[in-house]
Amino acid sequence: MSTLTEIPQLNIDMLAAIRKAEADLAARFAEKMRVNADLGRHLVSFQANREESGHRWCKYREGFSAELIRYCIRKVGISGRILDPFAGSGTTLFVAAEQGCDAIGIELLPSSAAIIEARRAVLDADKPRVAAALRRIMAKRQWSMHGEAKSFQHLRITKGAFPADTERHLGRFLFDAGREPDELRSLLHFAALSVLEEISYTRKDGQYLRWDQRSGRCLGKKGFDKGTIPHFDEAIVRKLGQIADDLEGREQEPLLFTLDRPRPLPGNIELKVGSCLDIIPALPSESLDGLITSPPYCNRYDYTRTYALELAMLGVGEEGIRRLRQTMLSCTVENKDKDDLAQKFGDRTFHSALGAYDNQQLLALILEYLGACKEAGTINNPGIVRMVKNYFLELALLIFASAKVLKANAPFIMVNDNVRYEGVHIPVDLILSDFAKQAGLKTDAIWVLPKGKGNSSQQMGRHGRQEIRKCVYVWRKGA
Ligand SMILES: C[S@@+](CC[C@H](N)C(=O)[O-])C[C@H]1O[C@@H](n2cnc3c(N)ncnc32)[C@H](O)[C@@H]1O
Repeated sequence: MSTLTEIPQLNIDMLAAIRKAEADLAARFAEKMRVNADLGRHLVSFQANREESGHRWCKYREGFSAELIRYCIRKVGISGRILDPFAGSGTTLFVAAEQGCDAIGIELLPSSAAIIEARRAVLDADKPRVAAALRRIMAKRQWSMHGEAKSFQHLRITKGAFPADTERHLGRFLFDAGREPDELRSLLHFAALSVLEEISYTRKDGQYLRWDQRSGRCLGKKGFDKGTIPHFDEAIVRKLGQIADDLEGREQEPLLFTLDRPRPLPGNIELKVGSCLDIIPALPSESLDGLITSPPYCNRYDYTRTYALELAMLGVGEEGIRRLRQTMLSCTVENKDKDDLAQKFGDRTFHSALGAYDNQQLLALILEYLGACKEAGTINNPGIVRMVKNYFLELALLIFASAKVLKANAPFIMVNDNVRYEGVHIPVDLILSDFAKQAGLKTDAIWVLPKGKGNSSQQMGRHGRQEIRKCVYVWRKGA
């Protein structure tokens, strides 16, 4: 096992300078930072959605829970129009609308947008009728009979993902779904999307898809054993049954689907499909009463790989995947510099955000250190330097542009994780809160989760065990 003493002297000096700059920055936010015992990991992750009617339909691992959003809206006091620029499966949107707010979501990935659209369409539908139609489809199990099938347009990274029978039945199901009326069709597609991982040889594993050894894709490498993989029939019947149960209000507290509500939800939901880096600069100034979001973390997690099955099912091809990857907020080592940012954000916002980014002393030291590790060839992946740089640059721009579209006193709430590369802790919470301050958003609170995340075993070997903070930040625009 290597130890701290094996780290070159230059790096030790740089690390000491980073620790000092971090301590100075932490001192500036010390009064605002507090452990919030109300926020367990369960609440801040998707876990708490597992039992909740309407929110449990798809396991969107990167999501936060509906209960967390209720907590934020109540605690911070938000009403009016709320934006989530990284809408994911739509948790903010549905809860905001349930609480009487009008919600606007922006989401880049067609697979996430499809989840939101299907969930939204069913809100307006005649729920008992839709539930009865789902039960009829389940009873017939037409997908297991002979008939026409839609062929699954595989990507290079999804070939061989399903056992042959499963792929055939999925194709039959999708073909039949395509002939149903709109509201049912989008719900059936959504149900199929929601079971794709379960019925495949793959598992979403952050940076990529992991392959079960039965897939034939492990080529000499040892794949993992996923255990029992349900057949399409079993998985889809379970999923359709769960949706039908919720639509019939069988859950004890059908928050999303109270059948006797005069309107589906008190607030409206609007979804804009595309990149928030394009869409936010075009929103009218001072038009929003709040923003609640969780951007991708700076952790190399590649949504275009982990959601490759879902994107392929929706017909996104190789070129489309490459485009989506480069349009995403930079959070993978493959993300290149986005070269048209000044044009997108306009000169004024661009230069203000760039100024805040350039003058952030701790970030500059961290980038210098990571650059030195890259030069020395000791960095785990050279693309990490560009990823960290662009992650902060793009979020600086997003924060400055968001500050413009918020009304006076409106809150901006962000859920994010700190990260660690090459033994250096990157306090995303403090750096972004510093950008927010420059953008005219003062920090009301940085709620620290009671228990942070440990570092990876590789990093632990070199640097000992260090907890990495996970936080919810509450910023507020000045009066
Ligand atoms: C952490 S997830 C959000 C999950 C969401 N809070 C939920 O509960 O479902 C981040 C989302 O940001 C999306 N995303 C990444 N880059 C984007 C961009 N440039 N514009 C809009 N959405 C983007 C990803 O596709 C992903 O769905």
